[in-house]
Amino acid sequence: MVSPLVRGISHDISMRILAISGSLRTRSSNTALLIAAARLAPPNWEVMLYDGLSGLPHFNPDMDTDRPPAPVLALREQIRSCQGLLLSSPEYARGVAGALKNALDWLVSGPEFPGKPVALINASQRAISADAHLRVTLKTMSAQLVEAASITLPLLGRNLDADGIISDDFLSSQLRAALDCLGRAIAANG
Ligand SMILES: Cc1cc2nc3c(=O)[nH]c(=O)nc-3n(C[C@H](O)[C@H](O)[C@H](O)COP(=O)(O)O)c2cc1C
Repeated sequence: MVSPLVRGISHDISMRILAISGSLRTRSSNTALLIAAARLAPPNWEVMLYDGLSGLPHFNPDMDTDRPPAPVLALREQIRSCQGLLLSSPEYARGVAGALKNALDWLVSGPEFPGKPVALINASQRAISADAHLRVTLKTMSAQLVEAASITLPLLGRNLDADGIISDDFLSSQLRAALDCLGRAIAANG
C-alpha cells in the first residue's frame, strides 16, 4: 500500500515520513509536489508515497471494529511506523478531496494519528477552503500541525511534474525549508 521508496538511499535512516496525496489523478500536481519533496529530503530520510487511497473502502463505523478491512489496517500500520506526515490535497467544490477525507475518517478512532507531526502542503494558491477545512479536521484529530512546515505553493495551472518543481528555485527552496521545519518538529518530539 505504499509506492516504491521515493527517497531513502542511506542505510542510516533517521526519519520516516509518509506522504499522502489527496488526488487520484495520474498527472496530479499534489502528487508531483510530494514526489518532489521526497526527492529534496535529506538522504537519511525515508519518504514513502502512500498509494492505497483508491483501495480504501468508504468509511463505515460498522466496519471500524477490532478487525477492520485489510487496506485500513495497512494504512494504520503505515501511519504508526512513520514519524511525520506530508499531506497535500486538491480542492473540490470548496472542500477537501473526498478520497483524503475518507482516509482520515478511518484514522479518527485509532491511536496511530494523534500527536503525529503533519506538514500540510497546499499545491494551489486558490485552494483556500480545502486548506482551511483540512486544518480543522487535523486539529480535531489531534494531529500536531506544524505551521512552519505548512505552505502554499502556486502550482495551479503550471502543469509541472516533480522534475519541473525541483528545477524551479523558488519551489524547491520552499519545499526544502518546509521539510527542515517538519524535521525540527519531529526531532523536538524526541
Ligand atoms: C470537480 C472539480 C471541482 C473543483 N473545485 C475547485 C474548487 O472549488 N476550488 C478550487 O480552487 N479548485 C477547484 N478545482 C480545481 C482543482 O483543485 C485543481 O485542478 C487541482 O490542481 C487538482 O489537483 P491535482 O492536480 O493534484 O489533481 C476543481 C476541480 C475539479 C475537477
